[in-house]
Amino acid sequence: MSDWKNLILHGDCLDVIRDHQGILNGQVRLIYIDPPFLSGTDYTLKTRSRGDSQTAGILHEELTYSDRWKGGLEEYLDFMRIRLEAMRPLLRKDGSLWVHLDWHVSHYVKIILDKIFGYSNFVNEIVWKRTNSPKAQSKGFGSQHDVILLYAADATKFKTHPTYREHDERSRKPYSYKDEKGRFRLIEIEAQGIQRTEDRKQFEWRGRTAPYLYRKETLDEWWSAGLIYTSKNGRYTKKQYLADVQGVPVSDLWIDIYPVQGASKENTGFLTQKPEALLERIIASSTDPEDIVADFFAGSGTTVVVADRMNRRWVTSDLSEAAIKVTKQRLSNR
Ligand SMILES: C[S@@+](CC[C@H](N)C(=O)[O-])C[C@H]1O[C@@H](n2cnc3c(N)ncnc32)[C@H](O)[C@@H]1O
Repeated sequence: MSDWKNLILHGDCLDVIRDHQGILNGQVRLIYIDPPFLSGTDYTLKTRSRGDSQTAGILHEELTYSDRWKGGLEEYLDFMRIRLEAMRPLLRKDGSLWVHLDWHVSHYVKIILDKIFGYSNFVNEIVWKRTNSPKAQSKGFGSQHDVILLYAADATKFKTHPTYREHDERSRKPYSYKDEKGRFRLIEIEAQGIQRTEDRKQFEWRGRTAPYLYRKETLDEWWSAGLIYTSKNGRYTKKQYLADVQGVPVSDLWIDIYPVQGASKENTGFLTQKPEALLERIIASSTDPEDIVADFFAGSGTTVVVADRMNRRWVTSDLSEAAIKVTKQRLSNR
């Protein structure tokens, strides 16, 4: 099976991984999984029939998978441990694993992952705000976020591409100055606070002696480019134009990606479907075109639909026939 490109496989991911080790070991750049998480819920796929005027629009609901565990937490963690252990050797040296969970088990799974990957290869705990309307609670507070645990196969070889989010009202606020080139904010070019150590040399530049953070040549370049702002008291700062800033660097708090809405075009009716924008960010930040992306808990196929669109190769599996069917449909609608 040396000439394969993409794989969509029906079955338990443990069998799928074991059966495909030969072609996948050390080859996968990114594994994203959104597995069951001990929620105690049965999940369904809701579809509306097409048919004639009598039958069109009738809502069908079929079970896709059950997240109930007779043996409770222990059984669940055994299930995850064995599958996570099987996934680890598939990764390339510069690859990464992203595990999407929530409060039910993320802390327990982190301990398992620390053991499999090594604590030093833990990169991030990403908090994704998945709803704007948490349920009111009489005890405690309504949950509004999921957790994505990110591990590198080898943290010394793993890198993410710079990732930005669009500006919003809040992030635009500091850009309160304006000139003929547009809105800008001011950035310090003199050492402040603890940066101002005794070792830092002061020098004179354009009539002001200060512990400058940059060399004289750099300051001269900025002056010639019109990037230096002089305040009334003669202090210099650097102008940073809003138009020159790519966006706001993304942190581990993801509040700008919205859940799949009922009326949205991407909605398949699969209850735990994740938004394409979430997978776009993950795939764009940690892979390059032609890399192999894997998701062994496909669900409605969001990961591979996005991977395919971004010219990545992909491998996916699911235990549920309904999930495989939706994934195939989404891929063929592209
Ligand atoms: C939370 S859903 C994934 C949703 C997906 N991220 C999406 O955007 O649609 C989890 C999926 O894992 C599948 N699943 C559960 N146990 C599995 C196993 N042992 N092997 C493969 N898939 C499994 C379920 O059938 C379900 O489709």
